[in-house]
Parts: sequence; C-alpha cells; structure tokens
Amino acid sequence: MADTYKNSYVLTGVKPTGIPHIGNYVGVIRPMIELANSDEFAGSFMFVANYHALNGLKDGGVLQSHIKNIARIYLSLGLNPQKTNFYKQSDIPEIFELQTILNPFTAKGLMNRAHAYKAILDRDGNDDNVNIGLYTYPILMAADILIFGIGRNVVVPLGIDQKQHIEIARDIAGAFNANYGRQAFVLPDGLFQKDIAELPGTDGRKMSKSYGNVVPIFGDAAEIKSAVMGIKTDSRAPNEPKPDFAENLIYKLYKNFADTGRLAEMGDALRDGEMGYGDAKKLLLQAIIEYFAPYQERYNYYRTPDGEKDVTELLAEGAKKARVIAAENLQKIKSIIQV
Ligand code: TRP
Repeated sequence: MADTYKNSYVLTGVKPTGIPHIGNYVGVIRPMIELANSDEFAGSFMFVANYHALNGLKDGGVLQSHIKNIARIYLSLGLNPQKTNFYKQSDIPEIFELQTILNPFTAKGLMNRAHAYKAILDRDGNDDNVNIGLYTYPILMAADILIFGIGRNVVVPLGIDQKQHIEIARDIAGAFNANYGRQAFVLPDGLFQKDIAELPGTDGRKMSKSYGNVVPIFGDAAEIKSAVMGIKTDSRAPNEPKPDFAENLIYKLYKNFADTGRLAEMGDALRDGEMGYGDAKKLLLQAIIEYFAPYQERYNYYRTPDGEKDVTELLAEGAKKARVIAAENLQKIKSIIQV
C-alpha cells in the first residue's frame, strides 16, 4: 500500500450475527483484519455494531451472545487489539450524539433511496412495519465513521454491498460542511473488497446464509464435512478428463485455502482424469480444517471463563481509548454548530 494512508484512520464495524462462513472470511473478515493490523494508517478502529443489530434482533439473550461471539471470532481470527481500538459501539455514546446532530443534515429522500429500506418497501408495498432505526441506519453508520473523521480521512474496508452506505455518509458530511462553509468532516472513503467477496457457495451461487449454501468457519467437524461433501458438481466420472477444472466449485474454494503447489496438483489431476470430485472434496475439507485449526483453538479458549474475561477487558480498553478521540471530536462539532 502506498503511503497515502499514513494520515488516515482505518475503521470498520461488524454486525453481531451468528457464526460467519468461509465466504465472509475470505471476502471481508480476512482483508479487514489485515488492514486493521497493518502499519499503513495513523490509527485503526474496529467495533461491534450492537445498536445496528438491535433493529433486527430484540431478544436480549440472543443479542448478548451474538455480541460476545463476534468479538471472540475477530480476536480468534487474528485481530490485534494492541494495534486496533476494538470496542462495542454502545460504549461510545458520542456516536449517538453525533447521529442526532447529523439528522437535520440528512434529507428524508436520501433515506428513501437506501437499499435495505427499499427492499422492504418493495416486498410489502408500504413501509408501515419499517422501524425508524432501520430507516435511519445509514445515519448511524455515518456517525460511526464521521466521529473519527474530523480533520482526518477515514478509510472503511467493507463488502461491495455496503457501497451505498459510504456514499450516504459522504453526502451527509458534505451537507454539513456546505452549511458551515468549511471542511469540518473529511469525506470518508470506502475500500471495497469486490473481487473476492463473491466466494461461491456449495451450490454455485454466492455463498450466503440466506441460500443455505455456506461452509461455517467454527462449525463442528461434521457440519463442515457435510457442507463440503454436499458441493454441487456435474456427473462426470472420476476418470473423465475435466479440462474446465478452473470453473469447478471445489477447485475455486480450494484456491483460497491451499498453497499454490497443492492447488496445481488438484488442477492437474482433475484435468487429466486422475481425480474424481469425491477425492477433490476430501482434499478441500482437509485444507479448510487445517487452515482454521489454530483459529479454532483460540476460539475455544475465548469461550472459557478466563477467555471471556479477556474479551470483556479488551473491549473495555478499546472503548476507553477510542472514546478519548470521539469526545474531542464531538466537542469540535458542537463548537461549530454552536449549541
Ligand atoms: N453496515 C455494516 C454491515 O452491515 C456494519 C456497520 C455499521 C459498519 N456501522 C459501520 C461498517 C461503520 C463500517 C463502518 O456490514
């Protein structure tokens, strides 16, 4: 990466949902963690977007277990809390005050165009059941980012599906700046993981929980095995040459977890009719299990009482550090709006 980011922060939020799958990992989590841990930025922030999650998840017990789980997942997968301020969104109240400040600078029409809102409107034919939290989700997301975007560019690594949210954040920041005739907020930049975000699922469509075609990261061995063994293939016999092996789902997934030598071996064997799909699946399964084994071990630790305590402490420390910057920035914005 060029030294263009040395004055920028890198920041991203993750919604506490269930166990992520290998598509999330390869497409978003791994590149996000690499960026967060890198030395290319002036500072790094990663947070659990728990108030965003409340829009769709109102069972307290489930929400809490998802929050803990997503935190231990990121820590297990290599997020370095010494480098990154890792915190829960709800621990930084300045974000929510900033959202209140941004509301008057956000046109309702901008929210009307947001994809998630429009999808419900299209489905139901009206928006009677859309909660206002979901409707204003993009404003909260803008506040998450802009609270650190005062006098500093914030770079936001995200899946390509989140592009509109960054555009909205830029629009809101721009409206605020225009009103006060100054660059109060630096417009944030998305860093989209577009090429790899589309890891195919076991049926060839994009890997997504809603299609039921995922391979979980921390699932039990039987679950991972049944997902891999269920990968859709054509009906060519094991000894039939498969010159189009590069288009094969097993091969495409294997590419992400095997080194180039092992990948070439599988490719050659498929091409020459020396390997059938069953054996290719076994190699893939083994590669996935090996790849995640060290992470799985850390994940297991973070589920013990000692590990849980570590996670809680790390999040609290991250919030404390991030909050110092957030509070300073909020003061600057309050002095601009003169409340
Ligand atoms: N909307 C993001 C998602 O669904 C999560 C998120 C919330 C976020 N606030 C953010 C991401 C701020 C980056 C920056 O994945």
